[in-house]
Amino acid sequence: MSNPFTSIIKGVVINEISETTTTKTITIKLVNGSMNPMPGQFNMLYVFGLGEVPISISNLYPGKRDIVEHTIRFVGAVTRAMIKAIRVGSQIGVRGPYGNKWPLEEAEGSDILIVSGGIGFAPLRPVVKYIIMNRERFRRVNILYGARTPEEFLYKYELEEYSKIPNSKFLLSIDKPYPGWTGYVGFVTDLIKYTDVDTGNSYTFVCGPEIMMKVAVKKLLERGFRKDKIFLSMERRMRCGVGICGTCQFGHLFVCKNGPIFRYSEIENYINVEGI
Ligand SMILES: Cc1cc2nc3c(=O)[nH]c(=O)nc-3n(C[C@H](O)[C@H](O)[C@H](O)COP(=O)(O)OP(=O)(O)OC[C@H]3O[C@@H](n4cnc5c(N)ncnc54)[C@H](O)[C@@H]3O)c2cc1C
Ligand code: FES
Repeated sequence: MSNPFTSIIKGVVINEISETTTTKTITIKLVNGSMNPMPGQFNMLYVFGLGEVPISISNLYPGKRDIVEHTIRFVGAVTRAMIKAIRVGSQIGVRGPYGNKWPLEEAEGSDILIVSGGIGFAPLRPVVKYIIMNRERFRRVNILYGARTPEEFLYKYELEEYSKIPNSKFLLSIDKPYPGWTGYVGFVTDLIKYTDVDTGNSYTFVCGPEIMMKVAVKKLLERGFRKDKIFLSMERRMRCGVGICGTCQFGHLFVCKNGPIFRYSEIENYINVEGI
């Protein structure tokens, strides 16, 4: 195996979009390397002198191996500094792609349910794009997406397109009433009761704050969804990203190497234990 720390690809930011007041999407052109990331995988993004953080792939560029896209929310030391430093033309280091992918091949021929909250929609956006590009491979598709306020939705410029996917349902929720909002108010997990997929034969992809994912799983199981067909994208702090340092340990698993996407039946003994 090549040394992961010497295989940083140099990239240049070629586009940036302010999604919300705390979130940006950046498109990176890789200068001295290429990659073919899959929906669900992540890259380690490095800005010189600031640090390195794991960030999911948030868009697909089929056939363009020198372009990657990421959506970054500024939450702490590195991401805040990163967001100030990154502009069109900035240099950025990219290591990856790492981790596994959403099981789209396994899910072919089945119904799909997506349950997402906040920045958790970023790793699921490539799934939605994949479904749009390969609509005939799946049966019914339901997408649930929750944000705190209407302004907090990512990719507002694409949401109408998602609502037009044939044989699908696209439901949005916000946490509290908001002037002009006529859609659902409440937690995104409340929308699970409005889904119309075949619970026994549906693949469910969940990403959001961990508490949201736990509530989602509870509601899904109550409705008869199968444990082995529910997939969660887990987050833990990371350093190496490749299964060496142990920082992301999750029970006997490493989130960077065995995940970040896990079948619920594989992690049910860990996810409900405080501190794991
Ligand atoms: C596989 C994976 C994919 C990710 N994809 C994205 C993405 O697409 N977009 C995005 O904005 N973020 C994503 N993240 C989260 C992102 O890596 C963290 O927000 C970032 O590392 C925080 O670094 P920081 O130095 O800015 O914040 P810090 O100063 O380290 O922390 C700020 C706050 O966030 C908490 N925190 C930091 N990292 C984590 C973590 N991994 N899990 C739980 N809490 C944490 C801290 O406890 C603290 O409260 C992903 C994380 C993983 C593991
Ligand atoms: S981040 Fe080092 S083992 Fe996962």
